[in-house]
Amino acid sequence: MKIAVLASGSGTNLQALIDQLHHDKNSGVEIAVVISDRRKAYALTRAKEAGIPTHVVRVRDFPDRDAFDAEISKILDRYEVELIILAGFMKLFQPAFVRKYRNRIINIHPSLLPAFPGAHSVPDTLAYGAKISGVTVFFIDEGIDTGPIIAQASVPVFDDDDEESLFKRIHIEEHKLYPQVVRWCAAGRLEIVGRKVLVKES
Ligand code: GAR
Repeated sequence: MKIAVLASGSGTNLQALIDQLHHDKNSGVEIAVVISDRRKAYALTRAKEAGIPTHVVRVRDFPDRDAFDAEISKILDRYEVELIILAGFMKLFQPAFVRKYRNRIINIHPSLLPAFPGAHSVPDTLAYGAKISGVTVFFIDEGIDTGPIIAQASVPVFDDDDEESLFKRIHIEEHKLYPQVVRWCAAGRLEIVGRKVLVKES
């Protein structure tokens, strides 16, 4: 299955997907293209080092968000992408884009949704005093971090945690969970029933 990975930042999740899927000939997954909205995203360097084509699409270069989405859509079509993986991509899509790729865009979020949605979930978790955090992988819908949940993993919050230490433990779980979910998806094992995502036996 040809996938695209969209990333705005350092791309450690992209690296996990490269190492565990793209470089594994038996995974059935090829990262056909990596797209970033930031020229300096380290994710682009990781992609180039793996020989994966990259594109930068910046919001500021387009008259509106529909035009930004349309450019991304054009690239996805060009590479015949079947599944879109958001890995720290910090831009929201317009509803028309979400409709076009319904159930074909997967995101990862550093909390146990529906707790702590949005762009500051790790500091929000610490400020709230929650004892358990985690990772959620989900299909995106028109809302913010509201789509059907595919898989979750929990991560304990320790009394002396700061953002860096908690994020570090969350990342360890992300790097295991995301490649696994993409493998399931490529193997046709995910079935969406209303809000529930079922993982069928292989
Ligand atoms: C990941 O922790 C991911 O869960 C988070 O961005 C980080 C990207 O890290 N995504 C969100 O917060 C989405 N709301 P990475 O660039 O090292 O993969």
